Amino acid sequence: MLLPRIWSTVALFFTLVQGNIDRESLVRQFNLNLNHSDSYSPVQVGNGNFAFGADITGLQTFLPHNTLSSWGWHNSSLPTTPNQTSISDYTGVDWLTHDRLVNYEQPNPAEKDISQWLIANPHRINLGRIGLWFGGHNVTEDALSHKEQIVDLWEGLISSSFTLNGTKVEVQTVASPDTDTVAVEITSELLKSNQLGVFFDFPYASGQNKFDAPFVGVWNATENHTTTLDTNPDGASILHTLDATSYVTEITWDGTASIERHDNATHRYILSAGKRHGTLSFTATFSLTGTQGVGTFEEVEDDAADWWSDYWESGAFVSLPTASNSFAKELQRRIILSQYLLAVNGAGKDPPQESGLVNNGWYGKFHMEMVFWHLSHWAFWNKWDMLGRSIDVYSRFLPTSISRAAHQGYSGARIGKMSDPTGRSAPGEINSLLIWQQPHPMYFAELEYRAFPTSSTLQKWDAVLTAVADFMASYAFYNTSTHVYDLGPPLYPVSENTNPNITINPTFELAYWRFGLNIAAQWKQRQHKPIPPLWRTVHDNLAPFPIQNDVYVLYAGVSDPWTTSALAEDHPGLLGIYGWLPPDPRLNLSTFTATLDKVYTSWNFTYSYGWDFPLLAMTAARVGDAERAVSWLLGPDFAFDGLGMPVGGARVATPYFPASAGLLTAVGMMTGGWDGSEGMVWPEGWVVEGEGFARGM
Ligand SMILES: *[C@@H]1O[C@H](CO)[C@@H](O)[C@H](O)[C@H]1NC(C)=O
Ligand SMILES: *[C@@H]1O[C@H](CO)[C@@H](O)[C@H](O)[C@H]1NC(C)=O
Ligand SMILES: *[C@@H]1O[C@H](CO)[C@@H](O)[C@H](O)[C@H]1NC(C)=O
Ligand SMILES: *[C@@H]1O[C@H](CO)[C@@H](O)[C@H](O)[C@H]1NC(C)=O
Ligand SMILES: *[C@@H]1O[C@H](CO)[C@@H](O)[C@H](O)[C@H]1NC(C)=O
Ligand SMILES: *[C@@H]1O[C@H](CO)[C@@H](O)[C@H](O)[C@H]1NC(C)=O
Ligand SMILES: *[C@@H]1O[C@H](CO)[C@@H](O)[C@H](O)[C@H]1NC(C)=O
Ligand SMILES: *[C@@H]1O[C@H](CO)[C@@H](O)[C@H](O)[C@H]1NC(C)=O
Ligand SMILES: *[C@@H]1O[C@H](CO)[C@@H](O)[C@H](O)[C@H]1NC(C)=O
Ligand SMILES: *[C@@H]1O[C@H](CO)[C@@H](O)[C@H](O)[C@H]1NC(C)=O
Ligand SMILES: *[C@@H]1O[C@H](CO)[C@@H](O)[C@H](O)[C@H]1NC(C)=O
Ligand SMILES: *[C@@H]1O[C@H](CO)[C@@H](O)[C@H](O)[C@H]1NC(C)=O
Repeated sequence: MLLPRIWSTVALFFTLVQGNIDRESLVRQFNLNLNHSDSYSPVQVGNGNFAFGADITGLQTFLPHNTLSSWGWHNSSLPTTPNQTSISDYTGVDWLTHDRLVNYEQPNPAEKDISQWLIANPHRINLGRIGLWFGGHNVTEDALSHKEQIVDLWEGLISSSFTLNGTKVEVQTVASPDTDTVAVEITSELLKSNQLGVFFDFPYASGQNKFDAPFVGVWNATENHTTTLDTNPDGASILHTLDATSYVTEITWDGTASIERHDNATHRYILSAGKRHGTLSFTATFSLTGTQGVGTFEEVEDDAADWWSDYWESGAFVSLPTASNSFAKELQRRIILSQYLLAVNGAGKDPPQESGLVNNGWYGKFHMEMVFWHLSHWAFWNKWDMLGRSIDVYSRFLPTSISRAAHQGYSGARIGKMSDPTGRSAPGEINSLLIWQQPHPMYFAELEYRAFPTSSTLQKWDAVLTAVADFMASYAFYNTSTHVYDLGPPLYPVSENTNPNITINPTFELAYWRFGLNIAAQWKQRQHKPIPPLWRTVHDNLAPFPIQNDVYVLYAGVSDPWTTSALAEDHPGLLGIYGWLPPDPRLNLSTFTATLDKVYTSWNFTYSYGWDFPLLAMTAARVGDAERAVSWLLGPDFAFDGLGMPVGGARVATPYFPASAGLLTAVGMMTGGWDGSEGMVWPEGWVVEGEGFARGM
């Protein structure tokens, strides 16, 4: 019997000290110290809405790492195929659903080209490349010696240096917290003789590849787009026009530098320091229409140092026993570097794409079902301002969500899946049949209410929760033979690996539906408003959890879920009912622990990736198995490279930030605890200090 064994390892041997951690020295302990470029993983500066990826020179000299933003997007021209030339020509696909035709946003085989256009457009663009220009010489990274690069996490500053032909070159790179600006200071004798300068270059948008990695954009389609340079005494601006997209790069510099177009056949510009100047400092600000008053390199550097130290000082922090325990040290490294990378890549005005602002996956779009995994850590770590940047996505997308539901004959608001900033969800068979994104707003609302139990929190979320709960209640189908409400078919569960036409009542989705409807009902109660009766009816009469041989299974009636390899792999979503979610009222804990044992012995974890391991850790923590929780966060398929990039196991073509964010959510729960927990859950013997965490549910 698993239960007693698990409970016997409950380990609460930690030390709790509030507000006492020397955060600065702990953060700086994990500053990056590098000596070569990495084509997979750039070093980055950024502000959540904007990131600049750099190679060993602190710029994009040898490797065209990307400059991505939350606002830079492009549409390719519409197809010219007859009857597929406009968005309104796309009609989706009708599937019979409980005796009526429901129209799903799926690729329509008869409308292949416009379906694909809607998937691939708009796509996120690489705003430009900034690199060192060696006076026209072809210099490779191998020609540099004494390469050294330090990323100071506490101040958000990259300091790079190397020697070229015996002469030292130093480069400092920093991003503004307020504008989409990269500020650079270069110091070298080579500047004086024009053997060193800076190039700016601009690519065309790609839009051809779902994954545009590691480098985004097309550099040789120079005739498909234009750039024009406008100079003034202290700077210049370059207007880049790609079809209907245009934006401005404003460059300002100190002293007497000058910029000119390199040649008319490319979009390359060269910035040169004035004669006799051994220092060149400049800022480059990217925006749709231009900004003003960015300031000098020093001002941006100061602003960044202030912002980053505030970031590290605010909200929660955890200190693991790094001196005495190499596992703790590695976990601490992952935590600190993830905190840095998520502020750069996962804190924009919209939810982040899976590859953050490193490169493009899914054309640069973001996934609404992933919002929990990308953003919940901000709540557990009490960094509400960071969460607040994008969490209004639910209210911003309410009109499109309401029309999506209405179009399908449901009430309320059906949240989309793979989205662009307008809230349009890309066609996709899986996209249109996933449902686990629906209760996320209830989870976020409840976390916020626990931190801020005020009427303004209630008002802020009321319209979203009402509309989403209305959809959830109307989506559940009353089965007249079993007298329960069913979820699906058709649907895809979290793991996306079943035949949607026979997938009914998946365990996780049942629990999440009940959780969401319950929160929505409480929300009404707190406001002394009536609870729509159907919410309660559905909540109380959802189908029972599917059980086979005394364990919960993926969905009702699934055959051989533990021996069919395609089913016992990927996201082990059903474990989410205890750990990720608080205990469901219908949960049978002994059935659950038997299920957990079954997953441990049957699952192909090599196939799992990203947030699966934090999910497993959260479940292990909730059953008190601290050793196992930690080992999930350090396992071989949950890998972070030397720069802290979430590289996963073998399957990840680009960094996958749900892994970083999920890590912080799991660590947040393990340190901050949850309702009914007695404190932190860390292995016996680990001296852990945690401060400022919000408690989980
Ligand atoms: C670069 O750093 C790596 C790892 O820190 C080290 O093994 C290697 O010797 C260094 N290379 C040079 C040329 O310093
Ligand atoms: C791309 O086209 C869509 C549909 O016309 C439009 O809503 C969106 O604003 C466009 N985006 C860009 C960046 O042009
Ligand atoms: C385009 O639509 C018209 C009218 O519905 C139809 O007659 C025609 O066959 C269609 N053309 C193609 C190429 O599908
Ligand atoms: C599910 O049903 C739809 C039509 O209702 C069909 O087009 C589709 O191929 C089916 N999918 C599978 C996997 O059977
Ligand atoms: C630099 O290399 C490119 C491609 O290898 C070549 O076309 C160009 O002529 C070289 N330029 C110089 C100045 O050597
Ligand atoms: C480095 O020095 C060599 C020999 O003096 C010269 O040929 C080469 O052009 C120099 N390289 C650069 C980038 O200045
Ligand atoms: C641009 O480069 C790509 C990939 O290297 C190549 O396939 C394509 O033919 C090139 N296009 C032009 C116009 O040179
Ligand atoms: C550039 O424009 C030409 C002509 O319209 C087109 O054929 C080509 O596909 C475009 N290149 C890219 C990379 O979109
Ligand atoms: C580029 O084009 C402009 C005007 O079209 C011309 O004045 C200039 O001389 C050209 N520059 C080069 C380097 O060809
Ligand atoms: C009612 O539930 C049973 C058992 O889950 C299922 O086989 C049947 O298809 C459902 N009926 C309808 C109309 O969906
Ligand atoms: C939980 O399930 C077990 C069978 O696995 C059963 O014996 C027990 O009665 C159930 N507990 C409750 C409270 O239903
Ligand atoms: C487990 O998943 C890995 C990665 O996809 C795969 O290579 C391996 O064959 C799978 N093992 C089994 C037993 O299915």
